[in-house]
Amino acid sequence: DWNMHDFANEAKRAIQEKVGDKKVLLALSGGVDSSVCAKLLVDAIGENLICIFVDHGLMRKNEGDEVEEAFKDTGMHFIRVDAKDRFLKRLKGVTDPEQKRKIIGEEFIRVFEDEGRKIGAVDFLAQGTIYPDVIESGAGDAAVIKSHHNVGGLPAVVDFKDLIEPLRDLFKDEVRQLGEAIGLDPKLVWRQPFPGPGLAIRVMGEITEEKLDILRDADYIFRDEIAKAGMDHDINQYFAVLTNNRSVGVMGDFRTYDYTLALRAVTTSDFMTADWARIPYEVLDKVSVRIVNEVEHINRIVYDITSKPPATIEWE
Ligand code: XMP
Repeated sequence: DWNMHDFANEAKRAIQEKVGDKKVLLALSGGVDSSVCAKLLVDAIGENLICIFVDHGLMRKNEGDEVEEAFKDTGMHFIRVDAKDRFLKRLKGVTDPEQKRKIIGEEFIRVFEDEGRKIGAVDFLAQGTIYPDVIESGAGDAAVIKSHHNVGGLPAVVDFKDLIEPLRDLFKDEVRQLGEAIGLDPKLVWRQPFPGPGLAIRVMGEITEEKLDILRDADYIFRDEIAKAGMDHDINQYFAVLTNNRSVGVMGDFRTYDYTLALRAVTTSDFMTADWARIPYEVLDKVSVRIVNEVEHINRIVYDITSKPPATIEWE
């Protein structure tokens, strides 16, 4: 895409001019926006880019490694913080969804603070703010700092002089085009939206490492089959939810008493309203058969056929 190549070159030039040989810090989540932002920045300033990737242990299967793989050898200063134990410890026994969100947001800032302290002051903080974020925060002026609802005002914990937001004028689809134009791993370019609190709000009720592992394996199979069916670009968000419900089943000669897993898939343009995705029965069947066969402790699969409203996209 010619336009996006031009945009990338111009953006890189502007970044180089602004940054010179100073340091830029970016909180990398592995989402589309922060990943495209990171790629653009590393192409422009190389080792002067410091990325902090907080792995809270609540990501999907392989996701943390994919992010590391995509960035570790690009020349930037890449820091992956393995904070799983910290997060799980604070989430122990917590069942309320809003409480989970609050704890994760707080802990995220603490981890970032701890890392930021090691780095010290930086001249620039970069953010993957895109145009809809600018509109949402109700201003066109440069002073507005995106307060991620998932990380709650992160920049405030870092001592920096100026903000760099190279994606400020782009819509989501343009960010993806840009990502492709600059050679970002397609896995990251086409990543579906993923909530900041991650799988913590997809394990209903209390979170344990075992439940997270069960959910990760089931969710992976669902995503794998959707991709094989060629539907991964058409369904805007799709994932598995591990319910707190257990029911009786039969496996060979044995009676089981295991978890019910829910599949959720929606089409939407803005995530404010959404329709449940009409996934063909054959695809749903494949997913269901594979999950109960391949993932221990799941013996029943249900498909969520409610739209938003009245339901939300997430279950918590
Ligand atoms: P709901 O469930 O409200 O979700 O219909 C709408 C969109 O927002 C995402 N979502 C979140 N994203 N932190 C986030 O960063 C959150 O706490 C959160 N809760 C929901 C959800 O995945 C969907 O894309």
